Amino acid sequence: MEKVLLLIFFIPTLIFCQDDNVIIEKTRKDKEKEIFVNDLIAKMTLMEKIGQMNQYSNFYDFTGPYPKNFVDSLKFEQLKQGLVGSVLNVSGVKKVKKMQKLVIDNSRMKIPLLFALDVIHGFQTINPIPLAESASWNLELIQKSASIAAKEAASAGINWTFAPMVDITRDPRWGRIMEGAGEDPYLGSKIAVARIKGFQGNNLEDPLTIAACAKHFAAYGFAESGRDYNTVDVGLKTLHNVILPPFKAAAEAEVATFMNSFNELNGIPATGNSFLQKDILKGDWNFKGFVVSDWGSIGEMIAHGYTKDLKSAAKSAITAGCDMDMMSSAYILNLKSLVDKNQIKINLIDDAVKRILYLKYDLGLFKDPFKYCSEDRENKNILNAQNRKISLDIAKEAIVLLKNDENILPLKKTGLKIALIGDLADDKDSPLGNWRANGPKNSAISVLEAMERVNKNILVYESGPSLVNKSTYFQGELDINYSDTSGTNKAIRLASRSDVVVAVMGEHGLQSGEGRSRAKINLPGIQESFLKEIYKANNKVILVLMNGRPLDLSWVDENIPAVVEAWQLGTMSGEAISSVLFGDYNPSGKLPVSFPRSLGQVPIYYNHKSTGRPGPSDNVFWSHFNDEKNDPLYPFGYGLSYTNFKYTNLKVEKLGDSSIEVNLMVENTGNRSGQEVVQLYIRDSFSSTTRPVKELKRFKKLFFEKGERKDISFNLNYDDLGFLNDDGKLFFENGKFEIMVGGSSITALSQVIEISSSKE
Ligand code: BGC
Repeated sequence: MEKVLLLIFFIPTLIFCQDDNVIIEKTRKDKEKEIFVNDLIAKMTLMEKIGQMNQYSNFYDFTGPYPKNFVDSLKFEQLKQGLVGSVLNVSGVKKVKKMQKLVIDNSRMKIPLLFALDVIHGFQTINPIPLAESASWNLELIQKSASIAAKEAASAGINWTFAPMVDITRDPRWGRIMEGAGEDPYLGSKIAVARIKGFQGNNLEDPLTIAACAKHFAAYGFAESGRDYNTVDVGLKTLHNVILPPFKAAAEAEVATFMNSFNELNGIPATGNSFLQKDILKGDWNFKGFVVSDWGSIGEMIAHGYTKDLKSAAKSAITAGCDMDMMSSAYILNLKSLVDKNQIKINLIDDAVKRILYLKYDLGLFKDPFKYCSEDRENKNILNAQNRKISLDIAKEAIVLLKNDENILPLKKTGLKIALIGDLADDKDSPLGNWRANGPKNSAISVLEAMERVNKNILVYESGPSLVNKSTYFQGELDINYSDTSGTNKAIRLASRSDVVVAVMGEHGLQSGEGRSRAKINLPGIQESFLKEIYKANNKVILVLMNGRPLDLSWVDENIPAVVEAWQLGTMSGEAISSVLFGDYNPSGKLPVSFPRSLGQVPIYYNHKSTGRPGPSDNVFWSHFNDEKNDPLYPFGYGLSYTNFKYTNLKVEKLGDSSIEVNLMVENTGNRSGQEVVQLYIRDSFSSTTRPVKELKRFKKLFFEKGERKDISFNLNYDDLGFLNDDGKLFFENGKFEIMVGGSSITALSQVIEISSSKE
């Protein structure tokens, strides 16, 4: 008894002491860092300072347009003189070492370079594209996925990734929807933090972690008509409540850097936008890291019609809080004369340089500029079995079962004849998706390979017509209407002679991503008409989709009995798909984004407002389409399983004066074990500003044995029920709130609770 009492007494004290020590240690380290960096800055010339704010790509792997007058030899001279602070797209220990050595051996201040790369969903072991990973709703796995990406990249000399992309978007036409977490600010915030923790670990000094970058600040995902780089015009309420939350969560999670964006926001390009970078990010949120421009985005302010030349673009960007210039050469060419002529204050430059040097210090580069250059780590840590295993785990959980009539899936492993059709089934490259960093070409496991491993004897493959002209696809425009129809008849004959057809269709891996907006979101090329012919020959069709965005699947949904959304799942793609098709893994993914019935519904998202005429009504005067339903084909949060989950016993109660407790029971009523994502949504019935009809506020992904029941409990703070006003301040108002729970945004149960709290 005494021991127990003693423990109870000591534990809080111990925790307190530990926390205290951590804070004291952190303060001591911060102080040391400040002294070191201030000392360094005091010794630097103005040009050396400006050099730290200058970033170039290597001279062969461009991820943006090639700038005019880009002279390689000049850049080498600048590197030697310490006039470059960071390079992107240089990786591999040998290359990184060589370039770092050039700087350390030749420059006066010997300040190491930051080596950046778009490690978006893996370095060489390619994980599912971020939109797919988001469909797993498994934050732990998402974090692990980012951590293996970081480990591989760090072992190849990289110390900074331009990820995560945390842009919320409601537009499947936008090619970069594949790079984010979908349409919801709450899910998006959780995923942003998981990814940052995965990349950065607990300590950037760890040589297997890298600095992360929250991008693109801000509102890039709201480009008009989903056309990349297009204009953005959104109100402050949408900005604060929908677009900014994942960025704020990233800042709170101490992401090392931010990247601004190509778009203008309400008339001011994001790169030159003080409201975003100075007032909100570095002001309200007190962000201590630095902001890098997007590729050439400082210079692009001229084309925006915002600045008259590169010099005024440089002035606008630095004044607005953009610390590093990626590929515009605007800073290196102009900042000195702007300071000399007193057009900008030197403290703007000092502040930017300090932020950049802080990161170099945190990464441990001043102690050892070659810290990321271990050949041994490079040999051991890349594409190894452990990384592939994690990649496979997340690939399986990313798959969303959209339809499964009469339980046509899972397939038996013996005693039937399967026709596998579609050239994506035999494609080892497309599943790597876009932004595949150093993922080796053709390194994914294809569906054909993986299914053959299960049982070669039950499978016959025919590619049918080609999806794209593979000889022209890489950097240029994809020839998406290309169709080499040879092979069509053979494939159809095979379908008619088989018990079941597995058709693998969708987009080529490079049909989504930057610059890959689409005005049509159907199955590209002649795939849908080919699918119709297959269906005529044999209606037992399972459609496996590979795609980087929601597609228009209306005909598919009406006719095809089973649909598996397999996105682009990376290196282990085929194995993950095969394990779902044969039932070795019970699908558990849920959509992070709504799938429209037709393009005319876009933008379509679950957390829309009610309008004054929500309907349905028996007259025509309500908010609807005359030729299409209002609701999506597949809603946000939706995804089937090979088992069923039943929701009962919802009870919502107040807990003290500032929170509520939500209890419910979920039961696995089917015949197999499986995971379910239990989702909680709220609705504020009325308030001083109109609120969405549903807002996700909590979720839990849980495993259930066959027949298992679980009591599930959620706590909500009154703050979770509030909204952000036009100044970004949180507001809570008393009133009636509906609490809804279920396995999708089409919730199963709901209860209304009235709150009248002194907190209002
Ligand atoms: C993209 C960024 C990317 C950068 C560097 C730009 O075109 O918008 O997301 O990080 O290139 O590759």
